[in-house]
Amino acid sequence: MQLAVIGTGYVGLVAGAGFADFGNDVACVDVDEGKIARLLRGEVPIYEPGLDTLIAKNTKAGRLSFSTDVAGAIRNAEVVFIAVGTPSAADGSADLSAVYAVAETIGKNMNGFKVVATKSTVPVGTADQVEAIIARHTTHPFGVASNPEFLKEGDAINDFMKPDRVVIGSNNTRALEVLRSLYDPFVRTSDRIHAMGARSAELTKYASNALLATRISFMNDLALLAEKLGADIDRVRKAVGADPRIGPKFLFPGPGFGGSCFPKDISALIHTAHAMGHDLEVVRAVEEVNKRQKHVLGSKVKQHFDGALAGRVVGVWGLAFKPQTDDIRESPALTLIEDLLEAGATVRAHDPQAIENVRPLFGDRVTYVDTMYTAAEGADALALVTEWHEYRRPDFHRIKRLMRTPSLFDGRNIWDPEDLRALGFWYTGIGRG
Ligand code: UDX
Repeated sequence: MQLAVIGTGYVGLVAGAGFADFGNDVACVDVDEGKIARLLRGEVPIYEPGLDTLIAKNTKAGRLSFSTDVAGAIRNAEVVFIAVGTPSAADGSADLSAVYAVAETIGKNMNGFKVVATKSTVPVGTADQVEAIIARHTTHPFGVASNPEFLKEGDAINDFMKPDRVVIGSNNTRALEVLRSLYDPFVRTSDRIHAMGARSAELTKYASNALLATRISFMNDLALLAEKLGADIDRVRKAVGADPRIGPKFLFPGPGFGGSCFPKDISALIHTAHAMGHDLEVVRAVEEVNKRQKHVLGSKVKQHFDGALAGRVVGVWGLAFKPQTDDIRESPALTLIEDLLEAGATVRAHDPQAIENVRPLFGDRVTYVDTMYTAAEGADALALVTEWHEYRRPDFHRIKRLMRTPSLFDGRNIWDPEDLRALGFWYTGIGRG
């Protein structure tokens, strides 16, 4: 099939390369000339394991191309995917100006039946708006669809190539058929394709993310209680997750969830509900608990040193919002660093991928180190925020020698408290009373 993917951000690039790998002819386009120039030079602007190889392979095979010719790509395409950004506006709603601008360009370049599918996460009702905008500019037939993505950063290629489910929502049966045949090769069983109305598809994406975030905030809230009760949330987590109705995933307490999706989508969903006169109380609590949770590690460090961090050195391990990515959007590490600096601490930060993204935010207020052990040098505290593999089994003897006072703040509960206490460390995790 001839496809156009508009927007070469995270979702657009993964989807473009993935569709091309299944033999489709894909034009990835963007108005950002700098971004396209980099892609044409073979540079992939984001860190995602396997994406560079997938792009290189399909570009070489002539199935994947990059350009700024948005109009040309639309004219050639049978299916046009909208994958532009939908950042949060100041009031927490999603800013749809880029989506609407693309819809207008599509309308002006219609030359026959096309399916227009939105991959960007957009509020319920956006498909109707997109349809109205296109219809203002053309008399050609078209079908608008919502086709949300469920990619996890760090595992996005796998998620795209072997999806657990494909959600396609449209009120146009021809559009549903075209998308069904496009996705058929990706799904091992056809019951993985969930076809529905556009509004239901749009809501499915928010429902999925909000439910996952609810599990995390629930466990984070319970972790604080566990500490007060002298219970170990990690034991509780495992036993609770053993119930097949609950399942073990997404029950890990931590420093609060970050990333480009959960915080933004939750806030947009609350906003949508509010606009419909509905108070989404559970989801509001999920958001509040997460905001509070991002300060938990910082509070623990402050409390340990009786509130005064002047003259104290704190090593921070992990800046990305999760491992296998250089993405620092809404990362709890940023809140921790801000809290530490405010309390007068000196911060030595390490991350295998994300340092260059953090540098512009804190500049020389933070010392960035190239190797993880250097972060522990002369430190009074070492705080783990992101559970990169290399932080899981470090050489604790070496760390103990390097630190001024050996205190560990394990924001992901990945270390063994008993072992560490036996080695002479002061240890605290999240919810391990
Ligand atoms: C998420 C969804 O998983 C994905 O389906 C959707 O398309 C986009 O949003 P992503 O943001 O890439 O993906 O990362 P994810 O692995 O879901 O983690 C999100 C955040 O939750 C991270 O900050 C992570 O550390 C945190 N988290 C996750 C926890 O704190 N505890 C858990 O048990 C799981």
